[in-house]
Amino acid sequence: MSNFREITPSEFTNTFDMIGKDWALVTAKNGDGCNTMTISWGGLGIMWNKPVAFTFIRPQRFTYGLVENENYFTISFYDEKYRKALQFCGSKSGRDYDKAKECGLTPVYDEDAPYFEEAKLVLVCKKLYAQDLTEESVIAKDETAPFYNGDDYHKMYISEIVKVLEKK
Ligand SMILES: Cc1cc2nc3c(=O)[nH]c(=O)nc-3n(C[C@H](O)[C@H](O)[C@H](O)COP(=O)(O)O)c2cc1C
Repeated sequence: MSNFREITPSEFTNTFDMIGKDWALVTAKNGDGCNTMTISWGGLGIMWNKPVAFTFIRPQRFTYGLVENENYFTISFYDEKYRKALQFCGSKSGRDYDKAKECGLTPVYDEDAPYFEEAKLVLVCKKLYAQDLTEESVIAKDETAPFYNGDDYHKMYISEIVKVLEKK
């Protein structure tokens, strides 16, 4: 029996705090398993009349290749007691660690979309659109340049939020 119930996207509030302050995990399938990484940039909104998530992933992340390969991934949110786990998942790579195991997170799968039993809220995302951000397209270069310093620009993914799961 699932410990989650389905709610609608309009039932949660304050995405500024959810993503920017509390952080989240982006999780995608990796073969028979999964890998996860922390995000604190992005947004939730409406595009093409659908509820969507905007996610920004740098190409050097291990998660990038996984999200590229899959049609579905999840964005999941956690209580403050998981801050250390999110710190770990945001500083170590799935190339070197089984991060779920290291952090005591239990993978569960909604078909092709992996998330963790410990989450309080899960957005199941279906990729709709992806585009590399480019330096040429930046308007306020002074404001964005400090975030790159020779690093590759992020790739933006716009994904339909096909399901929202809230811990019962
Ligand atoms: C608070 C926080 C927020 C982060 N936000 C992002 C983000 O929005 N996009 C991104 O590409 N990396 C972000 N990162 C960095 C990745 O989580 C980090 O590089 C991670 O180790 C990548 O893991 P992977 O190699 O297993 O994919 C963030 C890290 C932290 C700690």
